[in-house]
Amino acid sequence: MRNVRILDTTLRDGEQSPGCSMDVKEKIEAARALEKLGVDIIEAGFPAASPGDLAAVQTVSGIVQNAAVCALARAKKDDIDAAWAGVRAAVSPVLHVFLATSPVHMAYTLHMSPDEVIETAAAAVAYAKAFCSDVQFSAEDATRSDRAFLARVAEAVIRAGATVVNLPDTVGCATPQEITKLFTYIRSTVHGIENCVLSTHNHNDLGMATANTLAAVAAGAGQAECTINGIGERAGNAALEETVMALRTRADVFQCETRINTRRIYRSSRLIQSITGIPMPPNKAIVGTNAFAHESGFHQHGVMSNPLTYEILRPEDLGIPQSQNILGRHSGLHAFEERLTELGYHLTREELDAAFEKFKALAGKKKVILDYDLEALVGSHTEERVARYSLVNFVINSGNAISSTAVVKLSDGESEIERVALGDGPVDAAFKAVNDIVGMELTLESYRLSSVTGGEDALGEAVVHLRGARRSVVGRGLSTDVIEASIRAYVSGVNKLVGDAAPAEEKPL
Ligand code: KIV
Ligand code: ZN
Repeated sequence: MRNVRILDTTLRDGEQSPGCSMDVKEKIEAARALEKLGVDIIEAGFPAASPGDLAAVQTVSGIVQNAAVCALARAKKDDIDAAWAGVRAAVSPVLHVFLATSPVHMAYTLHMSPDEVIETAAAAVAYAKAFCSDVQFSAEDATRSDRAFLARVAEAVIRAGATVVNLPDTVGCATPQEITKLFTYIRSTVHGIENCVLSTHNHNDLGMATANTLAAVAAGAGQAECTINGIGERAGNAALEETVMALRTRADVFQCETRINTRRIYRSSRLIQSITGIPMPPNKAIVGTNAFAHESGFHQHGVMSNPLTYEILRPEDLGIPQSQNILGRHSGLHAFEERLTELGYHLTREELDAAFEKFKALAGKKKVILDYDLEALVGSHTEERVARYSLVNFVINSGNAISSTAVVKLSDGESEIERVALGDGPVDAAFKAVNDIVGMELTLESYRLSSVTGGEDALGEAVVHLRGARRSVVGRGLSTDVIEASIRAYVSGVNKLVGDAAPAEEKPL
């Protein structure tokens, strides 16, 4: 079995996608999860993009112990300086330099001749190499580049010291057959490629990102670049969970293995959904809620006789909680802690006490508490940040023949402030009352309400994307009362935006 390295770019390419931006706390939480998941390299950001990006990469570099940490840079000295400032404190730093190699980019974005591109790429790699022994070079838009030219670029950057050469399908247009040919060609043509890791990075514009990643691996790529849940620019990147489970399930075909602890896949997916506020469609491969649901009686009968009839994956191998585990209002701290440990959560004493309090409050309203509820309660500690505002109480008056009225009382830690607002429905009225209390310019970009489990007393989860003066954040609220969940989500978004003095963050990529 050959080992394939997994470079996770959820915190860089993933974070670049609309509505997915993460603050430093969220990046830390995600990086810790990726480390436990067993990824080989965490691409933590693009430090030249903004001081905030640089600070986030530095923080991630300071905490990750068991994975390399990588930062992206254009083929420019300033970018490389910023990237090095980001990762220099990492246990295993990697500098990732990129430059486009396709005719359309050379003509319209770079305004460089092919020879200038080769020279610039090699010079940038040599510059990066003076700081860091691990340097990755990406030939942006490689799949639309002339192959012989791409081979010349690869040879030049290898001579300059690149240890990884990445051939991205930047616009997601390649087919698996083309990827096979490209990787086979580069492996057989480029001098020195045998001493380098060949990497693959595929976008999903035509829905072929995972297939292309697997084709590259089959053709000799030693590194696959992926994101959790496939988030990323436009239609996203190859999904880590799909790539890893395909390699593992069809090891007979690929003859490859990864270091990923697949039992942490489900939790990592949920964490990224929670941080970004972007849910997975129910039929999403590997992590969708229907991925293991057999609806037809014919299939159900087959699976009951022998799971091998229709199941190629086992939910337990992905760490999917088994919903038959039930706790209730009589369950004590010990049973609660034991179940969390079985689910893989290891909380500090403080976190455990806080989570147990929430559990007791929920158990007062909901007869049975399933693993999915527990997971929603403790799934993201990001919500536990020091909060300026907290909900004290609210009263709603609503009906189909009257305007809705909300009376909302929040505490700002020192005093309690109450406001009344009219709205187009109870949620709108409640959000307007909150706006009035906090006195901030806020735009509600999206609002979603879902139930964590089934049943009349199900826990409702509200997620909002809220835009303040300078950026957009995700707020999340849980309650068995959907209006309360909605207000909590809105207030949690507000808390992230309070005192937000950072300049608007530009993403030049
Ligand atoms: O898609 C792409 O080409 C990239 C590079 C910067 C690696 O994300
Ligand atoms: Zn990309």
